[in-house]
Amino acid sequence: MQTAILDSTELDQAAAYLKSGQVVAFPTETVYGLGADATDEEAVKKIFEAKGRPNDNPLIIHISNIDQLERYVQFVPEAARTVIEHFWPGPCTLILRKKGPIAPSVTGGLDTIGVRMPDHPVALELIEKAGVPLAAPSANSSGKPSPTTALHVKKDLDGKIQAIVDGGATGVGLESTVLDLTDPERPTILRPGGVTFEELELVLGKVWTDNHLKDASIAPKSPGMKYKHYSPEKPVWILPASLDEAEKVMDQLEKSGEKIGFLVSDEWFEQLSNHNRTGHRLGDKKKPQQAAARLFSSLRALDDEKISLIVVEPYSKAGIGTAYMNRLEKAASRIL
Ligand code: TXA
Ligand code: MG
Repeated sequence: MQTAILDSTELDQAAAYLKSGQVVAFPTETVYGLGADATDEEAVKKIFEAKGRPNDNPLIIHISNIDQLERYVQFVPEAARTVIEHFWPGPCTLILRKKGPIAPSVTGGLDTIGVRMPDHPVALELIEKAGVPLAAPSANSSGKPSPTTALHVKKDLDGKIQAIVDGGATGVGLESTVLDLTDPERPTILRPGGVTFEELELVLGKVWTDNHLKDASIAPKSPGMKYKHYSPEKPVWILPASLDEAEKVMDQLEKSGEKIGFLVSDEWFEQLSNHNRTGHRLGDKKKPQQAAARLFSSLRALDDEKISLIVVEPYSKAGIGTAYMNRLEKAASRIL
């Protein structure tokens, strides 16, 4: 299959592909999604095939208006209305009880469904033109870092999907928060993401965090969280939290023959730079949203460099730093 590259003026063509049961990658404010008509089982199966995704890992449906929400969930609790009012369109996926003609593969046998309204004009217009909710996981090969540009999607899925809509680089850079509201008295974060725990607590009062996010030995409630994720080909190790320690460890690794590529904040960059090393910047340490936006694209860029090992600076687990560290810990095989 020849994968067409479309731009944001060609959404009629993209919508026509979707209506005829094909899969199309498109930009959202978080990462690129790989979309198909969520009511068409054959189309949804093509998403799993193209990504090599395990079929017990359910997909999020993407909607462009609130009527679609009422059509595909049994009931919209007060807590959901509050989150919607504050954060939609935006990077927060709600898990609710499902209803209506959603293709069975979307929810992988669960009686719940993940729904979000993306905050991206191209995504919203494409959903509107397609006239159906779009089931869409991140548009990477399963296990790889999620794509934040159309080129990342092409690298992973060229020849396996009908089209890619190129809408430029995404803004948030990592995926939506997944918030379980199936027990509306107990809003629970299953995956940290673009809307933070602190922001949700501000509007909902108390918010819970799925136990597996605190203790890796506990099985996650979100099926996708159990898989290895976000990993480039090269090994990723997490640096110590102190700059001097990090520098020592990197010197030792180089003495033992490793060719290091490093990914650190502006604050760390100067001290760690030398002519042997390839480095990328995560931005201002006081602005962890910059690190979140750059993590996946930098891991992909470092993977293409002539190095043997990628080392990355840890951030504190607060605000968007929680989502950054969640993705980094999943990508990494070792903490130094
Ligand atoms: O930002 C995002 O959420 C991106 C863009 C494309 O919208 N999408 C994305 O999809 O990250 P994906 O498939 O890579 O991740 C969806 C996550 C998985 O961890 C999945 O297990 C979980 O949401 N999920 C989906 N439906 C669920 C459900 N009914 N119950 C629990 N977890 C669910
Ligand atoms: Mg994904």
